Amino acid sequence: MELQVKTDIAERIASISVSSTMRVSAEAERLRAQGVDVVDFGAGEPDFPTPDNIKRAAMRAIEQNFTKYTNAGGTLELKQAVCERHAHDFGTAYQPSECLITVGGKHVIFNLTQALLNPGDEVVIPVPYWVTYKDVVNYAGAKCVFVDTDEDQGFTLTAAMIEPYLTARTKIVLINSPANPSGAVLDREEFEKIYRMTSRRGIFLMTDECYCHFLYDSEPFSIASLPGAKETVLVAGSLSKTYAMTGWRIGFGLAPAPVIGALLKLQSHSTSNPTSIAQKAAVEALRGPQESVEIMLAEYRKRRDFIVARLRAIPGVRCAEPKGAFYAYPNIGVAFKNGISSSVQFAEKLLEKAAVAVVPGEAFGTDRHVRISYATSMHELERGLERIHRFIVEQ
Ligand SMILES: Cc1ncc(COP(=O)(O)O)c(C=O)c1O
Repeated sequence: MELQVKTDIAERIASISVSSTMRVSAEAERLRAQGVDVVDFGAGEPDFPTPDNIKRAAMRAIEQNFTKYTNAGGTLELKQAVCERHAHDFGTAYQPSECLITVGGKHVIFNLTQALLNPGDEVVIPVPYWVTYKDVVNYAGAKCVFVDTDEDQGFTLTAAMIEPYLTARTKIVLINSPANPSGAVLDREEFEKIYRMTSRRGIFLMTDECYCHFLYDSEPFSIASLPGAKETVLVAGSLSKTYAMTGWRIGFGLAPAPVIGALLKLQSHSTSNPTSIAQKAAVEALRGPQESVEIMLAEYRKRRDFIVARLRAIPGVRCAEPKGAFYAYPNIGVAFKNGISSSVQFAEKLLEKAAVAVVPGEAFGTDRHVRISYATSMHELERGLERIHRFIVEQ
């Protein structure tokens, strides 16, 4: 009898899709390889190099043969550095036993959702949301409960918007402030109200602090700094954007010790430790000079002001002002005509006709917007915005 090899893909993989942000970058890359002069606003990645002191720490690590396995959950030295920096910046009081080092911020979000969610559990996610949240919740077999925000209010979230969606099945409320893709920042008082609402009901409040240092009008804040908050708050952190270290892949989780134990169990059977060399670099990033963060923020602010004004100068385009992160999320519904009726079609045509890569809003839960990353040079912003303007006017 002939052996039948089963090649079907597992059902849980069918429940997720390829990250649209990565799809856009891949398509832009393909066109560039063909010689097309593409302006790429797709990637959510600082255009700044990793600061020299961080790079030197990695070189030292190699020279000193710090190139072996570390503890699967990261070195004690790095956990201490994470806890110290979080305490210094936000006034929290985490111990290394409440910390896990992961392979980027995405990894801790993946680990948290897989380790905490059972099928049927609900996760409350404000819209627009970062694309990965939906897929990792689906992958865990849990259910996303989406909460709309108001574009006219700059997509800002309030506790009153969340409350009607809390049920006996709600396990996690997931907040990302400043938000990708809208740049919206959750008002501190509202954040505290959401914390009280969730902790009272025994619901985890997960806070994705990936962009926490890139704020234009307010001071960095962590909800984990409230007295008692450590019991129900789950912090997902990343060094990727703060220190222009996207390729190094270092993130971290701060959570109650039993949760960290569960994440570690999962991590010990998947990635094991994040790269030893990158961990040494991360210690330097957290303990060394912090000026580079200020310099990047000042540059992002200039670009934000430019891009918002430039988008608003395009007839019919609306753009809420981002209060943090480095994305603009304009409403381009005015261009929905002549064969374009969705953000995906808009992004495809824009890439094909004007050679500008943006991410369709469909990936973030709204379909009349696109995400433009302004973590790119002023020169690229000027060129790209000129092309977008012409494309929309001629559409
Ligand atoms: C909202 C948000 N959270 C987390 C991450 C994770 O970043 P990384 O895995 O590169 O550290 C990103 C990256 O784009 C993000 O936009």
